[in-house]
Amino acid sequence: MGKFLPVRRKLGMVEDASSLRSVPAAGNTWEAAVSTRGTLTPERRADKRAEQATALAGAEAEQWETRIQRLARSRDAVILAHNYQRPEIQDVADHVGDSLALSRIAATSRASTIVFCGVHFMAETAKILSSDKTVLIPDPKAGCSLADTITAEQLREWKAEHPGAAVVAYVNTSAAVKAEADVCCTSSNAADVVQSIPVDQEILFLPDQFLGAHIRRVTGRANIHVWAGECHVHAGINGATLKARVAAEPDAELFIHPECGCATSALYLAGTGVVPTERVKVLSTGGMVDAAQRTSAHKVLVATETGMLHQLRAANPRTVFEPVSDRAQCRYMKMITADKLLRCLTEGVAEVTVPADIAARARQAVQRMIAIGSPTRGGE
Ligand code: 13P
Ligand code: SF4
Repeated sequence: MGKFLPVRRKLGMVEDASSLRSVPAAGNTWEAAVSTRGTLTPERRADKRAEQATALAGAEAEQWETRIQRLARSRDAVILAHNYQRPEIQDVADHVGDSLALSRIAATSRASTIVFCGVHFMAETAKILSSDKTVLIPDPKAGCSLADTITAEQLREWKAEHPGAAVVAYVNTSAAVKAEADVCCTSSNAADVVQSIPVDQEILFLPDQFLGAHIRRVTGRANIHVWAGECHVHAGINGATLKARVAAEPDAELFIHPECGCATSALYLAGTGVVPTERVKVLSTGGMVDAAQRTSAHKVLVATETGMLHQLRAANPRTVFEPVSDRAQCRYMKMITADKLLRCLTEGVAEVTVPADIAARARQAVQRMIAIGSPTRGGE
């Protein structure tokens, strides 16, 4: 698959646990080596601990990485990390990618355990696709503000107002919402998914309003109703912020995630010639990595969560990648820390489960999603 950078592959995913040295239990060097004080929230304290741990000397970082890899082998686990994860998590993972690429890997991996370093709906999607596998997430509280904007009950009410409409649910939704959908999509294949639905059939697209508006634009369809949800991180990257950055960097290329509040402004800048059209790219996070490998631009301004920069800089060291907003950080993605990943692999927590009836109904919509769109394509 070309949509993720396989930063590191283990030598053998299936390894006889008996051939491995026993691994010390949690209560590890990371936790022992750092101390926290003050009035921080528990989540922020965990973030701080990981930041400090990451700053530790290289030898300890190597020791941590070796332990993670050994534990993963002994559990027959594959570690998947989303592009927004902390750099040390991305670097230790077997696969790093966008939601679609990671779903596809989860569906086809031969490992019996999937450790999902991302947010809860991503781990749930992996479980829906692989009900026979154990799916672990290092912090089950890693949620998503966008997924929280619609419940299954609200969707049922919306469907009742539009009988006969096809329901397209972005993957950033709970399993219960997916169970009410006809097909899921990610930012990478949303246009393809919408185009697979007969042109005269109404569509309910949820929950992201900016992605919905973008899909309306690229497909030219007027019969798409869009739920008014948004992601607090991407909505915060607004048109004014983008325009100010473009004014300061008129020669830079723009990589824009379609969930961004500035997606419309970016296309307006292109449409009015402020930035040449070929320099404005609306892309999923995996599409950004593909585009980074291809670009010869001196500088690219990136409108998405700042964790993305780690993969972009690794993909192309010749180009300078800068965030449109350095405040665009998803606190949920950042809940997955070095010490929590170690604990997850040591203790086998936290297991992600989806009730069988909900999983069965959601599976159809998710399987349709992974079947649509080319695995090697970055965006629409
Ligand atoms: P991608 O599907 O582009 O990886 O995005 C997922 C996400 O959560 C964006 O905020
Ligand atoms: Fe959800 Fe936004 Fe975080 Fe993506 S960046 S996981 S949409 S809260």
